[in-house]
Order: sequence, then C-alpha cells, then structure tokens
Amino acid sequence: TPEQRADDLLRRLTLEEKAGQLTQYFYVTDPGSADEQARVVEDAIRTGRAGSVLFIRDAGVANRLQRAAIEGSRQGIPLLLGFDVIHGLRTIFPVPIALAATWSPEVIERAQSVAAREARAVGIHWTFAPMVDIARDPRWGRMVEGAGEDPVLGAAVAAAQVRGFQGDLSAEHVIAGPKHFAGYGAARGGRDYDDAEISDSELWNVYLPPFQAAVDAGAGNVMSAYMDLNGVPASGNSWLLTDVLRDHLGFEGFVVSDADAVRSLRTQHFARDLTDAGARALGAGLDMEMCWADPAFGYLPKAVAEGHVAEAAIDTAVRRVLIAKLRMGLFENPFTDEAASGSVLAAAEHRTLARVTAEQSFVLLKNDQRTLPLDATRLASVAVIGQLAASKRDTLGPWVFDHDTEEVVTILEGLRQRLGDSVAVEYAPGVGIPERLVPSFFDNQDPSVERTAGDHDDDAELRRAVGVVTASDVAVVVVGQRQNQAGEFASASTLDLPGRQAEQLERIVATGTPVVLVVMTGRPVDLRWAEKNVSAILQVWYPGTRGGEAVAATIVGDVAPAGKLPFTWPRHVGHVPMIYSHNRTFKPEDQGRRYWDEESTPLYVFGHGLSYARFEYSNVRLDAERIRVGESTVVTVDVRNASTRDADEVVQLYIHQRYGTSSRPLRQLVGFQRVTVEAGHTRTVRFPLGAHELSYWSAATRGIVQDATTVDVWVGGSSAAELDTVLDVTP
Ligand code: IFM
Repeated sequence: TPEQRADDLLRRLTLEEKAGQLTQYFYVTDPGSADEQARVVEDAIRTGRAGSVLFIRDAGVANRLQRAAIEGSRQGIPLLLGFDVIHGLRTIFPVPIALAATWSPEVIERAQSVAAREARAVGIHWTFAPMVDIARDPRWGRMVEGAGEDPVLGAAVAAAQVRGFQGDLSAEHVIAGPKHFAGYGAARGGRDYDDAEISDSELWNVYLPPFQAAVDAGAGNVMSAYMDLNGVPASGNSWLLTDVLRDHLGFEGFVVSDADAVRSLRTQHFARDLTDAGARALGAGLDMEMCWADPAFGYLPKAVAEGHVAEAAIDTAVRRVLIAKLRMGLFENPFTDEAASGSVLAAAEHRTLARVTAEQSFVLLKNDQRTLPLDATRLASVAVIGQLAASKRDTLGPWVFDHDTEEVVTILEGLRQRLGDSVAVEYAPGVGIPERLVPSFFDNQDPSVERTAGDHDDDAELRRAVGVVTASDVAVVVVGQRQNQAGEFASASTLDLPGRQAEQLERIVATGTPVVLVVMTGRPVDLRWAEKNVSAILQVWYPGTRGGEAVAATIVGDVAPAGKLPFTWPRHVGHVPMIYSHNRTFKPEDQGRRYWDEESTPLYVFGHGLSYARFEYSNVRLDAERIRVGESTVVTVDVRNASTRDADEVVQLYIHQRYGTSSRPLRQLVGFQRVTVEAGHTRTVRFPLGAHELSYWSAATRGIVQDATTVDVWVGGSSAAELDTVLDVTP
C-alpha cells in the first residue's frame, strides 16, 4: 500500500532529508532574479533539501528538475510540482467568481478537468486551487478567485472544482489544494493579508462549509492562510490546523503553507526566530513550507536537537507528503511526455469549453425595453468603446501565466467576427484605465498589450469615442477594472470605476445612441448611475480565452444569459459589507438597518440575473408539511418558460426559521439547480429539505443544532423569490 511504501522510504531518510521533503521552493524562469533562484533550487534538489517545487509550467524544465531529484540526489525521491492553475493553464477559463456565477457544478467540474489535463501535460502534479474563501467585502481583491458570499453555493462550487481537478488522480489529473485555511476572506477592511476576526458561529456556519465540501470531495491538499485568525496566525494555529481541519473536517491529506507564511510567523511577531517558526508551524499541523529561500523548515533538525519538535511529528508530515507522491504515481511515472504536451495544450475542444463556460457565466443585470439581444440583421453600425474591449491581457483576468495571445479573442474581435462585413464595427478606446499603483509579481505580464497610461490623451480620446458613438446605431461600452486591479494584493478603497470611465459613460449616453453596458470586473463596482440611465447591463467578469466570442454571442442572442450573482451587489462602497443572509433586527425590516444618506437596499440582490426568456414559478409544494427534527421532506416547484426561446434558469431555494436556539438569517440559500427549460414547457424541480439544510452551529449551545420551529420556504430565480410555503418542524 502507499502507506507501507511511505514507511519504508521514511526509514531510509536522514533528518535533513525529511525536512527537505517538507520544503517547497519557488522556481521562476522569468528574467530578472531567475538565474540565482534557479541555482538555489537546483542545489537544494540535489542535496535533498527540496521535496517540491512550484511555478514550473514548462515540460522540459519539469523533467530536468525531476531528473535532478531522482538521479542526482541521494534519496532519489521524485518532486511534487505545484502551480497556481486557477482558471486554466493555456486555455484560460473565466475567473473563479465567474465560474460560481454559472451556478453549474457540471460545467465547473468540466472546466477544471481541462485545466488539470493541460497542467499535467506540462508536468504539474498539484494546483493551489480552488480558493474557497468566502468573500463578503468587495474591497478585497481576491473576491475574484472565490465563489462569493454564500456558504452553500461556495460549498457546491468548491466540491465541483475538486472533482474536476482530481478526477480519479489518473495521469490527466492533479491534486487540488483548497485554500486559504481559514478565514482569509474576512481580512479587516478588505485589505489583503490584514487580520481576520471571525466569531465561532460565522466560522462554522459561513467560512468552513466550503472547506468541508472540498475535503468531502477528496481534496488531497489544503493551503494554510497568512493572516491572524482571532489573533493567532493561521499557519501556526494548531486549533485550526489540527482540531478543526483534521479532527472535525476529517482532512487526511497534507497541508502546505502559503508562500513564506511559515517564515512570516516571525514577521507577524508570533515566532521568536525561524527555528521557532518552523517548529510551531509543524507542531500546529502544517506539513510543507512554501518559500523562496532559507526555509524555516530547514531548521527543523536543530529544533529536534533542542527538543522543540519530536522527530515523530516530522515523520507524520513526511509520510503524508510521500503518500501524496505515491498516489500520484510519481515513483512509476515521474516524467512528462514533452512531445505530447503541445497537442494537449492546443486541443480545440478545450477552447470550445472555455467559450461555453463563459457564456454560462454572464449575468444580465438589467435589460429594459428588451434592448438585448441586439438584432444583428437590423444593424448597420456598432460602436465598441473602452480599452478593456480590445485588451487580451484583461480579457483573461488575473492568475494567468501561460497563454497563447493568438488564441485570445477580445470583445472587439468577437463582435467583428460575429457581425461580419455587413455591420460596420467602429472601435474607440476612449479614456485610459490607469494601471494600479503597485505592480505585483502575480501580474499577467503580457508584452503584446501596450500599457497606455502616461501617453494617453483622455480628453482627445473621449471626444473621439463620443464621435464614434454618435455615428453608430448602437454602442457597446465596456467598462471595468484591469486584470491586476483584481486578485492578490489588489485591494481597493473604492468601488468606483477607475479613471474617467464613469464620466465617459455619461457623455456617451447623452448622445442618445442606445447603449449596452458590458462590465468586466471580478467584484461589484458602483453602477448607480448606469442602473438609472442605461437600459442594458451585462456583467461578463474576466471571461477568458474565448471570452470575446461568448460576449458577442450573448449580445446578439445566439445564447441567452442565465448566470446569477454569487454576491450581493452594493450601491456604494459605504454599504460594504452587505450580504443577503443577515439576521432580522429588533425593528421591522423597513425601519432598521437604514442609511440616511443612501438607499439601504442593494443595487442587485444575491442570486439576481435576468434572461432573454421569461420564467414563471408556480405550485410550490412539500411532500410533507410537517416533519420531525431529523426527518426530511421534498420541496417541489414548477418552472414554466413562458417565452419563445429555450433557456437556462437557476432555480433557487431559500429558507428562514421563525424561532429557535439562535436567531437565523432572514433568508438562507439551501439548494439550487440550473435547468434548461424549453420554450413553452414546464420543468418540475425538486429539492431535499431536511436535517442537512436545517441544522446550524449555535453560539448558544456551542454546537450543531436543529430546532423544532416553523420554517418559511421560498423558491424563485433570486434571493428576492416570492413564491413561498411553510414547513413545520416538530420535536
Ligand atoms: O497560491 C498562492 C496563494 O494563493 C497566494 N500566495 C502565493 C501562492 C503561490 O503562488
């Protein structure tokens, strides 16, 4: 068994080599400091001080380093190669928040299985994904990498991604590493890496369920977070990494730290020095340290000698890492087929799936007077406005390192392709979108995209854009944030559109030409003016390699949008954080929770998303209207497509319990299904409703409870669903 083989290998390792198996180095092949870093890493591999390497995305380099480990080191143990394959490797899928907006575990699983296939083809064994952190503060840039605000949607999206990445862990799959354990999304003020203060009930009811789902789906790895959780750094937090993760969630794989998170236990004024940092992280339950150089785990032999760590604890961690390598078949097949990787990366079906996934992710926020879809047969000219419309780099989004620029279809290109020669498509970039102030290592450095800041004459470009719009039948105006204004280290203090995009939109609308507003972001932005003054608004996220084709197909109605918001869309940054699943206050809903200077409702509710079709919900019923605690019933609803076109709808089930051990949210998502309903047809949709949906962690009893109570049940196309029924739960 892998366990026996791991024990056998373990007996042959020196203490230093054991610490090496627990160490993961960054390997960068980009210019700059790369040569020095490569030397450090290769030396560590040969001397048995590295068990894993990250950031390799080239089959040749992967094989070279693997050979150095197997043939050039004393212990000959293959490397585990990890990488941030977040939403694709060569074929870039829509960003994770967009995947969540599909509300389709099926398409998410397929997308991530393609990502895994491409990753494995270049020698990657393990991805640092999915990010399953709940995000309720859109100032936090990493909202783009997760599934939004809701634990039930988050759990379903997490599990689907783990299934897609890992499959049966065959030669076309990779280990999934849900991250960042735990509570990173609650960073104070939305500032990346800031500390998180999370109550126990929020932790158990909101932040942990997606991790539980990922663990239940078999995730082989978990990444620990950087930040302090309630005053204790997550990467040195033994309650979190052992009591919660292993004892409660039942995780059996290995835990890796975030980059340099063990070393930074010292920076965070938690550990005395690197020896203390390594000893306490390992003691807390962390198995592998991710770092650039001078790993804290390099001091583990010293910590053993000084009596701070038992060698048995190191053995436990090494065993977990070796078992992961054995399960991946690395001892039998350590190398990747360099000749074959090109054809895997070039697979046309991968691009097709990227387009379909993007189409499924778009959220139609507003569509007055049936502005969309545009009737392509009646158009003579279309103005396409905005730098993001023509930027390949931004179309792909953050966390993209290895793409083929030729493959990327921007919105401008997509519209030109789709509309053909009979429609004149005139492009104007309009005002510049400023680059973010601080560049990041994780920026997608696509040299083919010129960075326009600096030499961009906003006034002249704005005039030109207005002129182009004035002369056109319709304007497609693309606004949003650049890809590196979302993601790690991309917190924002405002939800305003960067630069003069809002002013430009107002000038364009003033021309009287009908406007379709396309929003490219990974978070909500301030659309108050647009909501009042623009008739059609389509949220397209960062839609990936074939995103432009998907946008064009949606705008002209080849496909009907069916994505739904995975977060509540606030009106203004002052609303933040704003969630749909809040508790009731002592005042009725319309008197409490008010701002005096701004509407207090969100701009768009959680789960919102319009369609070109029209759905009618009716006949909600329960198999049993009264159940006992612990029993289950089924909620059934009929969904009729009252339009003349087939379309998808995301049917959502919400509950609220009227009294119990704790106050519970006014509305709480407990089920959803994305279904296709043919024109004029009715689909009957069923949801289980029982202990799983009705239980929660209560601070009153400090444990899981299910109350005897009265439960309101709603079914509909958003969290504002009106069709309801009532369930009685008796003791
Ligand atoms: O996987 C990431 C993590 O999400 C943030 N810090 C760096 C890691 C490796 O790139």
